[in-house]
Amino acid sequence: FDFGDMVWFPRKISDLDKAQNVLMYGSDLDADHPGFKDPVYRKRREQFSAIANNFKHGNPIPRVQYTPEEVKTWGTVLLELHRLYVLHAVPEYMENWPELVKYCGYREDNVPQLQDVSVYLKRKTGFQLRPVAGYLSPRDFLSGLAFRIFHCTQYIRHSSDPFYTPEPDCCHELLGHMPLLANSSFAQFSQEIGLASLGASDADIEKLATLYFFTVEFGLCKQADSSFKVYGAGLLSSVAELQHAITAGPKIKKFDPELTCKEECIITSYQNAYYYTDSFEEAKEQMRAFADSIQRPFGVRYNPYTMSVEVLSN
Ligand code: TRP
Ligand code: FE
Repeated sequence: FDFGDMVWFPRKISDLDKAQNVLMYGSDLDADHPGFKDPVYRKRREQFSAIANNFKHGNPIPRVQYTPEEVKTWGTVLLELHRLYVLHAVPEYMENWPELVKYCGYREDNVPQLQDVSVYLKRKTGFQLRPVAGYLSPRDFLSGLAFRIFHCTQYIRHSSDPFYTPEPDCCHELLGHMPLLANSSFAQFSQEIGLASLGASDADIEKLATLYFFTVEFGLCKQADSSFKVYGAGLLSSVAELQHAITAGPKIKKFDPELTCKEECIITSYQNAYYYTDSFEEAKEQMRAFADSIQRPFGVRYNPYTMSVEVLSN
């Protein structure tokens, strides 16, 4: 194998500055959605895009002064979701909630700042956050995970529909993803998917991204009493889709990487199907086995001292 044939991928953490292809800026949404039509909202979004586009690895993430309307949206989402978490979230999700309250300002009257969450996670599991202006390409998103970097949107959903938004926003990141990224075994799992994606073919990236989608974003776990609990961030950030998913009956299917990787990922509305495992650990093991089965003509090893990836010949 000629290493010259290898597709470019980030080798060191600062290379992520060059892996920022945003696929969807909100302007690609259904033209009827208020997040697309409202000129005041569009204007506000430009401020968030500027932060993300100017960001370089190592900078602190600029703090945002959220407007009273934005804080109100956050508070509404937080209050309603918290009621549902108590009943429907996996226990690993709830575990770190008190620390997020204590160290990161998770409160109804305060939108947590990405910088504060990033500092907390770095100490907890080594994860750091990076602001992004919209929906990142799957390849760039996954490659961030290899370096324990999680790309986060910083803008908030349009106030007209707090319970479902067709694009990821800070409620999705802060409520959906952050609690599990503070769990060390979940953090490890996330990094492994990222490492498997580096230099992978487009077809393999699509499969990895689909499996990530139906686990980390929309996954459920079957409980001893046959009910389902949720760990998928896309569900844990949407009151409407969370309620929909837990009552989705036959739409909830057993996770099987070989089959699930062919399912369609729907970004701007509810999924056609949701996938469950018998435990959170089982999802990890199945994902790990699938990632190992991906053929690459080289291996990669992460060096945490230099925060860089070493490429190994097979
Ligand atoms: N619907 C989610 C929410 O209301 C946000 C979201 C939109 C999303 N598209 C996504 C989450 C794709 C995960 C993946 O919070
Ligand atoms: Fe997400």
